Amino acid sequence: MREVCKLSGTLTPGQSKCVASNAFSIAEAHFHPEAWYRAIVLGDTPIGFLMVNISPDDEEGALVPAEDYPFAFLWRFMIAKSYQKKGYGKKALDLLVDKLRKEGYRALYSSCHLGKVSPYRFYLSYGFTDTGVFEDGEEVIRLDLKNAGANLKMDS
Ligand SMILES: CC(C)(COP(=O)(O)OP(=O)(O)OC[C@H]1O[C@@H](n2cnc3c(N)ncnc32)[C@H](O)[C@@H]1OP(=O)(O)O)[C@@H](O)C(=O)NCCC(=O)NCCS
Repeated sequence: MREVCKLSGTLTPGQSKCVASNAFSIAEAHFHPEAWYRAIVLGDTPIGFLMVNISPDDEEGALVPAEDYPFAFLWRFMIAKSYQKKGYGKKALDLLVDKLRKEGYRALYSSCHLGKVSPYRFYLSYGFTDTGVFEDGEEVIRLDLKNAGANLKMDS
């Protein structure tokens, strides 16, 4: 846990604005039974962290269409600075997508900042689409799990 918490300190100041610290997320998860969270580990080395809301609430019922149920929400996601741009973020998403699809989820939603430093292009290049909805200062994005993953090469 300490190693995973330390990873947040490797992000640039701009990147730190895009994601809560891992310590905060792990603490928060203890008050949210719907939070599923894991370290991203390369061999024995922790290199990142992700947290998913596996039972999100579309409070107004306005954003998520009926055909996307059940859906999950990627709540937190980070790769330590020195491991970025090496394909590990994409690989971690591949593993998550595979797990969610096997469990019957039909869509993965997330949201992100659109500033100068932003993971928006990363998500679009992965296959997320922009919903056009801007909520709580972030753009809401959606990955169709019914079709995603068809070209994935999984080793595990
Ligand atoms: C976003 C993040 C998880 C991406 O992880 P990563 O391991 O660097 O991404 P990958 O190396 O797997 O990149 C996959 C592809 O996306 C591209 N990509 C990665 N980051 C990008 C960015 N910021 N802008 C544009 N393209 C990007 C890569 O070039 C690569 O393209 P390719 O497949 O054509 O070569 C990482 O940059 C990060 O932790 N950022 C800070 C925290 C953050 O913003 N988290 C998201 C919160 S919503």
